[in-house]
Amino acid sequence: MKPEALVSLAVEAMAKAYAPYSGYRVGAALLCADGSVYQGCNIENASYTPTICAERTAFFKAIYDGKRDFTAIAVVGGKDGVISGTFPPCGVCRQVMREFCDNSFLIYMGGPDGSFEAHTLAELLPYSFSAKEHMM
Ligand code: THU
Repeated sequence: MKPEALVSLAVEAMAKAYAPYSGYRVGAALLCADGSVYQGCNIENASYTPTICAERTAFFKAIYDGKRDFTAIAVVGGKDGVISGTFPPCGVCRQVMREFCDNSFLIYMGGPDGSFEAHTLAELLPYSFSAKEHMM
């Protein structure tokens, strides 16, 4: 699947965001090695800390379905769903990615008009702690 197609699935997912507190609507589309795609959105909570990001929603859906091999994720977001720039994954989501992905996993940060920036996980999470390398 081309990055552009994955970014547009992230834009589609953004419409599902539940973000009554921050107003930031975020969507993600996670591409598995078998070609399947899992979409996710952010889901906020009145108590704030239970909020989950779009990227982790996508990952946890996929993990529950038995997927373990991932190729790339696209992420888009913006205030009131307006994509005015790229929306980088937060640190917690980067660490969750590292749990299941190697350093070459690709992250497409979508911007206005279908534009995107591509980065590897190693670029976004340098000197990372990973179970495979540091615990097993
Ligand atoms: N958010 C995400 O969905 N993904 C990120 O990587 C960063 C932040 C959400 C969480 C919260 O609902 C809103 O964006 C503002 O922080």
